[in-house]
Amino acid sequence: MATKDESAAATSTGRLFTREELAKHSEYSGNTWIIIHNNVYDVTPFLMEHPGGEEVLLEQNGRDATEPFEDIGHSTDARQMMDKYKMGELVEADRTKDNSKERKDWSGKNSEDSSRYDLLPIFLLRYFRNLTLTVL
Ligand code: HEM
Repeated sequence: MATKDESAAATSTGRLFTREELAKHSEYSGNTWIIIHNNVYDVTPFLMEHPGGEEVLLEQNGRDATEPFEDIGHSTDARQMMDKYKMGELVEADRTKDNSKERKDWSGKNSEDSSRYDLLPIFLLRYFRNLTLTVL
């Protein structure tokens, strides 16, 4: 039967969850579900493997761990590992401004490109100024 419950909706990247649902889930289930950059992860099978220890993950059960996750400055390897544990995403209404797309942009690839183009007007100005000086 069709349901109007948003949390039961499915997306191409998994299920949709509400923050409330995650918080409640942490109270009664034996699993550890956390939010990082609006994505929802089930880190239960990762607890013992986590190089930072299981305690820090358990503390974040049912919560948004984006800030502590970023504060540690996790490596690219760690960010790739995360995909394995992704269950879904937060419903639109519960999302914060930052999202996984922004996270990917932190690689610096795009910002390098744009800074190169940012300098173009300066180079052109210098070129024409030097040209004018040479002619005069
Ligand atoms: C699915 C989520 C996570 C994955 C896959 C993950 C993975 C990793 C990995 C691979 C490392 C080794 C260092 C590195 O490569 O960056 C690490 C270290 C660490 N992580 Fe995580 N982590 C996750 C979530 C978190 C969260 C939510 C916290 C904090 C609340 C956290 C706290 C730490 C700490 C404290 C260290 C040790 C840093 C150090 O010793 O310098 N991690 N994590």
